[in-house]
Amino acid sequence: MAPSVILTGFMATGKSAVARALARRLGWRQIDCDAEIAARAGKPIPEIFRTAGEAGFRALEREVIDELANDPHRCAQCGQRRPSVIATGGGAIVDPRNYAQLSRAGVIVCLTARPEVIARRVGASARSRPMLTQGGKPLKERIAELIEARREAYARAAITIDTSDLHIDQVVEAILTALAPYRWERCRRSA
Ligand code: S3P
Repeated sequence: MAPSVILTGFMATGKSAVARALARRLGWRQIDCDAEIAARAGKPIPEIFRTAGEAGFRALEREVIDELANDPHRCAQCGQRRPSVIATGGGAIVDPRNYAQLSRAGVIVCLTARPEVIARRVGASARSRPMLTQGGKPLKERIAELIEARREAYARAAITIDTSDLHIDQVVEAILTALAPYRWERCRRSA
């Protein structure tokens, strides 16, 4: 398997921050799916939801994941994809096609957190998170409902880490420990 780590998990479980710290630690490339989507659309995520709806956003998300999972940038020596840490949006892995692509691309790590911790971390930014405002439910109720709906999808990850009581560096350590048994087929020059 090529050396790639894919971070999934609910909003506010720390995916983007952990991806940056983990990529720095490993010396690998870091990619943020939502940032790629926003750059491609030329507008921020909430604006994509407003103008194209969730379906429009998911179509872009599929496109970006498709390309990232089949990254044409390969090491000239061994032909492997460049090692990378990819942070995906919280709903990406729910789509079976995205899951299939991502599981071929690397090891999927799911970050979790208790619903009340998620509600606290999301805080005032909840208003600008389209999946949390949908349906106009109270925040904690909506978080619990969405986590439940995605339970099976998140359970497909190879590694799961509860970030509720951990700092970013501790999450990185936990991921590195869990990754130890994986043997990457890698070219030394691409590290
Ligand atoms: C979503 C999570 C967001 C973003 C979009 C949809 C979701 O990403 O992709 O608003 O469906 O859970 P984060 O999980 O990085 O906040």
